Amino acid sequence: MGSRLLCWVTLCVLGVGHTRAGVVSQSPGYRVAGRGQNVTLRCDPIPGHQVLYWYRQMLGQGPEYLTYFQGKEEPDKSGMPKNRFSAERPESTYSYLKIQPVEPKDSAVYLCASSPTTLRFSLEKAPGSRL
Ligand SMILES: *[C@@H]1O[C@H](CO)[C@@H](O)[C@H](O)[C@H]1NC(C)=O
Repeated sequence: MGSRLLCWVTLCVLGVGHTRAGVVSQSPGYRVAGRGQNVTLRCDPIPGHQVLYWYRQMLGQGPEYLTYFQGKEEPDKSGMPKNRFSAERPESTYSYLKIQPVEPKDSAVYLCASSPTTLRFSLEKAPGSRL
């Protein structure tokens, strides 16, 4: 790939809309960002679900764990790339994943999943966010 192509990062969330009952939704559906821009991805979990997970999937690879929230707490961010990635969930409901700034190597599908509890772990995920 040429360096000019590498300057672009596309980001896609295939879910549509916010907070439809019974599904996890993500936005934006698709995002193209230039190098150096900040990107914020939003996830709305199934209402009432305490646990929310972020994953990313690089082209041709399996999903990779990034971080999760139990309510507002973020107990294990061991999967988060250092420095540029952060996540928040200020009201125990929606969550933002922020990449500041974005780089071409961040191109991926970003997935969000939610679960009622960590004990009864069941992935109920949206199709994802393509970056
Ligand atoms: C990106 O976010 C960082 C950290 O909040 C901020 O300092 C910077 O000005 C932002 N850059 C752009 C292009 O918005």
